[in-house]
Amino acid sequence: MAISTTDPSAVSALKEQHRATWADGDYPAVAQHIADVPPAAILDAIDVDGKDLLDVATGSGNLALAAAREGARASGLDLVEELLAVARARADADGLSIPFTQGDAEALPYADDSFDVVTSIFGVQFAPRAEVIASELRRVCRPDGHIALVNWTKDGLIGRLFQVMGRYMPAPPAFVTPPARWGDEAFLRELFAGDDVTITRRTNPFVFPSVEAYMTFFEENYGPTKRAKAKLQAEGRWDDLRADLRALYTELNVATDGSLHIDAEFFLVVISQER
Ligand SMILES: C[S@@+](CC[C@H](N)C(=O)[O-])C[C@H]1O[C@@H](n2cnc3c(N)ncnc32)[C@H](O)[C@@H]1O
Repeated sequence: MAISTTDPSAVSALKEQHRATWADGDYPAVAQHIADVPPAAILDAIDVDGKDLLDVATGSGNLALAAAREGARASGLDLVEELLAVARARADADGLSIPFTQGDAEALPYADDSFDVVTSIFGVQFAPRAEVIASELRRVCRPDGHIALVNWTKDGLIGRLFQVMGRYMPAPPAFVTPPARWGDEAFLRELFAGDDVTITRRTNPFVFPSVEAYMTFFEENYGPTKRAKAKLQAEGRWDDLRADLRALYTELNVATDGSLHIDAEFFLVVISQER
């Protein structure tokens, strides 16, 4: 794939918007609901003991911490300093030494071939340009190393959440890779063409006392939903979106006792470099 050429100021403006969105609400509280299954999926697939590992778009550090506990020399990078502060506090509390660096997945501040393992859990999926990111992930990963990604699938819970929100929110700029593409198998194989790519489907459970409790939790804590709510309330359209979201969650809910249990589908993508 060709690397996109785009007005740098448009890209910077979008990243500032992303930074503010992920700093809004309480993303670390949301991340507690994905702290176990996705990191375990990667760490079951790849032996990280004694390896140099970078977790890109690490947020509050779920994967970096889990990998360090397994013996990796782990590092983490994210756009949002507020989330890295939480990651550092978690590492300190666990007595783990993990450098957490503020930076951009599209311009990783590391030399070529720096890491044996490069990971991202629902992370690079939300950064702007897939081809730029894939090039950076490959650049910092050693030739015999592995890139491991966990991406929400386009037809699972979070993929459908973004489809529904997309009916109400302005379309992103044309240079942006929609997050759903990272949940599309054909796209991933094209993006990493020439490498050995293994893709498996998994699910992460979301369990809440009720559909209403789940909705309220995301509206208050998950930056993308919190910001959509603020915008659409001002336009008088929030109640319509909320009704559509309730219908989606009710359709996917497998609990029968009034609570909410949704198994949200994701891809585990393991890329072995062929270079
Ligand atoms: C859904 S969160 C996932 C965080 C974390 N990987 C986890 O498992 O909880 C998406 C993350 O991507 C980060 N992010 C978005 N765009 C980024 C970029 N261009 N460079 C680095 N991080 C970025 C956000 O700040 C946020 O922490």
